[in-house]
Amino acid sequence: MQRSKIADILREEPVNSEVLVKGWVKAFRNNQFIALNDGSTASNLQVVVDFERFDAATLDRIKFGACISATGTLVESQGKGQKVELKTEVLEILGDCNPDEYPLQPKKQSPEFLRENAHLRFRTNTFSAVFRIRHALAYAIHKFFNDRGFCYLHTPIITASDAEGAGEMFRVTTLSMENPPRTESGEINFKEDFFGKSTNLTVSGQLEAELGALALGAVYTFGPTFRAENSNTTRHLAEFWMIEPEVAFNDLRDNMDLAEDMLRYVINYALEHCADDLKILEDRLTEEEKTKPQDQRSELSLTEKLKFVSENEFIRLTYTEAIDILRNSNPNKKGKFQFPVEGWGTDLQSEHERYLVEKHFKKPVILTNYPAAIKAFYMRQDEPLEGVPGPTVSAMDILFPGIGEIVGGSQREERYDRLVNRMREMHIPEEELYWYLDTRRFGTCPHAGFGLGFERLVLFVTGMTNIRDVIAFPRYPGSAEF
Ligand code: 4AD
Ligand code: MG
Repeated sequence: MQRSKIADILREEPVNSEVLVKGWVKAFRNNQFIALNDGSTASNLQVVVDFERFDAATLDRIKFGACISATGTLVESQGKGQKVELKTEVLEILGDCNPDEYPLQPKKQSPEFLRENAHLRFRTNTFSAVFRIRHALAYAIHKFFNDRGFCYLHTPIITASDAEGAGEMFRVTTLSMENPPRTESGEINFKEDFFGKSTNLTVSGQLEAELGALALGAVYTFGPTFRAENSNTTRHLAEFWMIEPEVAFNDLRDNMDLAEDMLRYVINYALEHCADDLKILEDRLTEEEKTKPQDQRSELSLTEKLKFVSENEFIRLTYTEAIDILRNSNPNKKGKFQFPVEGWGTDLQSEHERYLVEKHFKKPVILTNYPAAIKAFYMRQDEPLEGVPGPTVSAMDILFPGIGEIVGGSQREERYDRLVNRMREMHIPEEELYWYLDTRRFGTCPHAGFGLGFERLVLFVTGMTNIRDVIAFPRYPGSAEF
């Protein structure tokens, strides 16, 4: 007999038919009612065992977390809480679960404890919901780009370039750590390394995506990226997944429109397709909010927050305008910011980003035209803008409530001379990026793209508090468990 998935049974309710289900015991009440979950849905199937028909030894093995198989007839349920239930005829224990040793308990356990037990946390209601939603969002992203004629490009994981010029990379090498080969001047000789040069894990697929866009027109990457920044925050990972579309002939405004459409599409997709899982996470968030002081609680529930973003236009303003708002803001005047906002030209801290989004505009915000000095070399140089103290670039960052920066992107510098000048100013070796510069030498064109941090999106949609809880096995300073 073929196994049925609980999701299908609950949707189709094939009453009076014979079904076989397998799954994990969530609860066992009155030696009679098993709440069974097989991961196909947030909901459990009620499996009813007639204790007179099964021996005590078998019944005694039906413990929280045990894996069982049950065959029987699906009937309309007499009890409250479910429409159908399984009247069990054959019951088999597939895997025992000793409650004295099992780390999970049928009660609320802290996110920190569950993170230490990340190999088992999929089995909790919260985490199974998070990972089903993560899947749905990944699918929605591919669907969004596919429906718009984008080509999914796989850019390399191992690379010799540092796309962001940020220098926070993990080295990849097969050289001996104890006794690496040396050059005559005593430096490590990477010519003898596996690739004949020094290599690292990629921080971004953008530069390679640009190469694709200048032939295929519209491409996107969706892959793992790695940053060795020592950021122990609730929004940074050392290994995270990034989506990077890159489009020929797009300018900064097209780029913002694309990012806004994409975010709205995937959030709506989750609202439409993940209602059950969102309900679990909404209840979790509401409980968590109750533990906060009244004035720090969110006014919106999780689904209200998602609808709010999907239904409202994002506010667009320049970095220079944002600095003015921040400089004149109450928290700045009262010295409440940890980093006071003084002059034009410094990078915004997440407290500033969150002030703009959560307090000032109460809407997602797109900041544009940042000072060139705080952005990457490849961003397109703006013509001098009136009333702006220094050179700017056609950059855009999208800021979300509770998250801060969720997207970073720009129009790219397509003019060869301008690009080379900027690289020289920033000490970026031209020889190593000859292939990037070739696109500007041969048939260059205006183009633009951005990077969406996938875990930051999942964090926003699930309403979880820590980015370490929306990726299965998080990597962060001091932790590479599992
Ligand atoms: O702003 P970033 O550094 O931009 C780039 O890497 C560009 N090459 C993107 C492009 O234009 N194609 O990173 C993009 C996004 C951020 O907005 C953020 O959402 C996410 O990636 N991100 C991180 N997410 C988790 N952990 C980290 N350490 C992250 N660093 C960036
Ligand atoms: Mg950024």
